[in-house]
Amino acid sequence: MPAPDAEINILFSSAEIASRIGELAEEIGAESGPDLLIVAILKGSFVFAADLVRALHQTGLKPEIDFITLSSYGAGTESSGRVAVLRDIAAEPAGRRLLLIDDILESGRTLAFAREELTRRGAEVRTCVLLDKRGKRKAEIEADYVGFVCPDRFVVGYGLDYAHYFRELPYIGTVEHR
Ligand code: IMP
Ligand code: MG
Repeated sequence: MPAPDAEINILFSSAEIASRIGELAEEIGAESGPDLLIVAILKGSFVFAADLVRALHQTGLKPEIDFITLSSYGAGTESSGRVAVLRDIAAEPAGRRLLLIDDILESGRTLAFAREELTRRGAEVRTCVLLDKRGKRKAEIEADYVGFVCPDRFVVGYGLDYAHYFRELPYIGTVEHR
């Protein structure tokens, strides 16, 4: 299936995102010890995580970096409510300070699931999301670090997809159907 025919209106520009990530990295860097394990939730957070870890490098952090792939929407724009591990981390989380990174916190089910699972395996987990859609929360969770509060609209770009497309956009925008 080709990319959906949609118009994207910019919500957060690449310059705004870069500047906010610099601030987040300062905050995280000041509060993290030397032995940090970063776990980015795929696929959506790959762009955010890539920029955030390089900003964290500027603060002197030398984290171990791993990835976990969790199921989410499939191809629609509504969450199914069930979360499963499609591909696990290779790192050993027991006894580690761990920073969990996701693109967006919506119902909260994805982040709550990942935090619970990694806590159960013995990590001390903190969470960081680029976007927080507060109006849609179903699970009881707030992220420790939030880039931007996001309006209750479906957004794409900077790693976030609509039906597997638009992840490559260097900004975040809302989808307007034609
Ligand atoms: P939650 O489990 O409902 O909090 O949803 C989190 C996951 O759903 C995120 O990791 C995203 O992959 C996806 N998601 C939620 N809202 C959006 C959106 O507006 N655009 C694209 N993906 C989204
Ligand atoms: Mg995601």
